[in-house]
Amino acid sequence: MTLFLIGYMGSGKTVIAKALAEILSFRFIDFDDYIEIQEGATIRTIFEEKGEVYFRKAEHDYLKDILNIDNTIIALGGGTPCYGNNMKALLGSKNTHCIYLKTKIPTLIERLFEERKKRPLISHLESKEALQEFIGKHLFERAPIYEQSQIIVNTDGQSKQEIAEAIIAQLF
Ligand code: S3P
Repeated sequence: MTLFLIGYMGSGKTVIAKALAEILSFRFIDFDDYIEIQEGATIRTIFEEKGEVYFRKAEHDYLKDILNIDNTIIALGGGTPCYGNNMKALLGSKNTHCIYLKTKIPTLIERLFEERKKRPLISHLESKEALQEFIGKHLFERAPIYEQSQIIVNTDGQSKQEIAEAIIAQLF
């Protein structure tokens, strides 16, 4: 079984994927880290030096490497399901489950504002109001894709343990 955690930046994909991997004794892969290792550069540098179109193409190509690794849980990038036919590939892959971590905008703002400099799409936003406006529009575009996931879990007000348990209850 291969599990993909999807959702907006700051929805907790990496933290929850690590917790689930430990509970299920699955291997954990952070897809952003995987891309950085393959490219020998940080996501920020890839965006700065080669641009977003290059990054999306690389992300699409590397996705094929990790589609069918058994007993593995993968935290995808927030944009991974949203480009090319990536979501179709994820949903069409055998013995695979997509899990959407659904998080409300105020929670995302609180998590992302301080660490926005690490994320090229939002690093230029200088106020929480600007971040709110950006996320509002962006999530409106992306939510219909995220919502195609087989499992959807609301994360607001839930501990890491509770979210992991809610996912496991729907999986088995
Ligand atoms: C992106 C999300 C990031 C990273 C890149 C683009 C996006 O991953 O892949 O900065 O388009 O939402 P996280 O969701 O892990 O921050």
